[in-house]
Amino acid sequence: MKGIILAGGTGSRLYPLTLVASKQLQLVYDKPMVYYPFTTLIEGGIREICLISTPADLPRFKQLLGDGSRFGVKFDYREQAKPAGLAQAFLIADSFIGQDPVTLILGDNIFYGGDIFTRVFGDFKAGATIFAYHVNDPERYGVVEFDAAGKVLSIEEKPKVPKSNYAIPGLYIFDNEAIRIARGLQPSARGELEITDVIRDYLRREALRVHRLSRGFTWLDAGTSSSLHDASAYVQTINNRAGIKIGCAEEAAFQQGFISLPRLEEIIRQMPDCEYRDYLEQKVVAEAKRLPG
Ligand code: TTP
Repeated sequence: MKGIILAGGTGSRLYPLTLVASKQLQLVYDKPMVYYPFTTLIEGGIREICLISTPADLPRFKQLLGDGSRFGVKFDYREQAKPAGLAQAFLIADSFIGQDPVTLILGDNIFYGGDIFTRVFGDFKAGATIFAYHVNDPERYGVVEFDAAGKVLSIEEKPKVPKSNYAIPGLYIFDNEAIRIARGLQPSARGELEITDVIRDYLRREALRVHRLSRGFTWLDAGTSSSLHDASAYVQTINNRAGIKIGCAEEAAFQQGFISLPRLEEIIRQMPDCEYRDYLEQKVVAEAKRLPG
């Protein structure tokens, strides 16, 4: 399974911040936003990752994440010249995807709770798998409608009158057909290659699976000033209450076995004196040394 982090766009809703820095590099409590979706991919066992962003912002992401070896993953970077839609990712990254299935995750989406993605990535064989999450404001998202038996009836992009409260979070798993489907898409009325059109193609062919995320699961997107603030507050709450850092990519890479304990310690030694370092040292490393095996 390959992974794509889509971290371009205009970020107009975060103006004027996004005049000088990409949305996905903004701070969510104690780390850049892109660490959260990146950590979700690591937790799912994905080691080959393509990050797509604007020509102006891509150098910053390279500076932040490098070639990925710090996390035991391999990064490939690609430019999206204009924000022409989520489905364009499959065209930009077609040679990266090759013949493999691919998970596309949006750079401003934050997921927390349980191991559902790990299980779904592991079980994935063919077709497309997406998720559904109950929200208050479904009109901001792609919306999925179910019948009483849980069968998917429709998928609509940002409908004025949503047919359900189930929004589609920004994490989608596709088999290789997605590239072919994206090649055949026409831009929508808003001028974008729509991910919902790709999903609908799978729905028509009865190759779509939709997992409803449980109530205990958290999905946040940090695309507006208010949701960015909420996301920071949420991450801080868990940090202070449980002593757990959401979106700590080094920790996830270590837990997945992508990097060894000596390598993690070496990486920590290169970090400046900061709370992030203290966490890795005093919690992650210390716990690993306490626990046998
Ligand atoms: P959006 O939040 O829909 O768009 P945006 O980031 O441009 O923000 P705004 O609406 O405030 O102008 O995009 C969702 C995610 O997908 C976000 O992480 C940016 C990314 N994206 C791309 O990388 N390329 C694209 O062509 C589009 C449409 C979005």
